[in-house]
Amino acid sequence: MTRAIVLDGYGPPGVLRLGETEVGAPGAGQIRVTVRYAGVGPTDLAIRSGRLAARFPGSVLGFEAAGVVESTGSGVDDVAAGDEVAVFLPGLGGYAEQVVADHWVRKPSTVSWADAAALPASGEAAVRVLDQLAVSSGETMLLLGAAGSVGTIATQLAVARGVRVVAAVRPDDFAPVERFGATPVDYRSVPSDNVDAVFDASGRGDLAAMVALAGGAQRVITLSDPRGPALGVKLSEVVPSRVRAALETVMSAGLTLQSHSVVPLAETAVAHSRLEGGARTKFVLEV
Ligand SMILES: NC(=O)c1ccc[n+]([C@@H]2O[C@H](COP(=O)([O-])OP(=O)(O)OC[C@H]3O[C@@H](n4cnc5c(N)ncnc54)[C@H](OP(=O)(O)O)[C@@H]3O)[C@@H](O)[C@H]2O)c1
Repeated sequence: MTRAIVLDGYGPPGVLRLGETEVGAPGAGQIRVTVRYAGVGPTDLAIRSGRLAARFPGSVLGFEAAGVVESTGSGVDDVAAGDEVAVFLPGLGGYAEQVVADHWVRKPSTVSWADAAALPASGEAAVRVLDQLAVSSGETMLLLGAAGSVGTIATQLAVARGVRVVAAVRPDDFAPVERFGATPVDYRSVPSDNVDAVFDASGRGDLAAMVALAGGAQRVITLSDPRGPALGVKLSEVVPSRVRAALETVMSAGLTLQSHSVVPLAETAVAHSRLEGGARTKFVLEV
């Protein structure tokens, strides 16, 4: 058994309780990791509330973590016990002292533990959608949610590809996205620029207007807006075979991340409450 934040049913942050969970030995192609830091993301909150419970069953949340390899399963030869890694956990489990992972990347010494834990889920999503949109140098991409966790990473990666990024953010966030080389626009109005593609990393935009702006739904992708498919907009999901390359890209890109706040594992419910109260920070749990 390992210490973990477990879900006592679904509901408000109070259903998150410090308890224990069973973590088995790593199977073929897996590693078991002693977690040092775990990231908290908006999808965790949606699952805890019960909104996504059917899609993500399980009693320990957390799509991302960083820590030290404790043991490896058969067929794993790129890392060994004692190595420092960041892990992406599509099946959850990061809010715990130990976790078994299928997807990992070595943590470079230049990346802090907290950054390494904050990168995997947002970074994987950012690389995946940029690749699915196939945006290339000289094109213009509208990015909704550019100041958020996924958006901050997607902005920097797209600018580095030579893409002109029109960043839909609140006016307070104009300066930070400009520093990354994006052109800010207020997300309360639809921009008038011609765009080649739209990356919705907010889930809260006016997708119908975005489809009109892009001249069709073909190059509009959302990470989380359930209205997307009815408009012909792809709702992007994890592609397991591409996770490793995405993690390597984000871990080695020298990215500046959205500001984060570190709290002890035992205060996970406080982090969830603060996010639901509108805190504009990424929480990282110190395990
Ligand atoms: N499908 C997947 O694999 C996957 C993976 C990762 C994330 N996600 C989802 O992707 C979304 C983004 O994740 P995240 O971690 O980046 O969240 P986040 O850090 O909370 O960022 C969301 C951003 O969206 C902005 N926003 C809110 N309303 C907006 C609007 N109408 N137009 C444009 N932007 C708006 C927010 O700005 P304000 O703070 O100003 O409101 C915030 O900066 C979440 O819904 C998450 O669940 C999905």
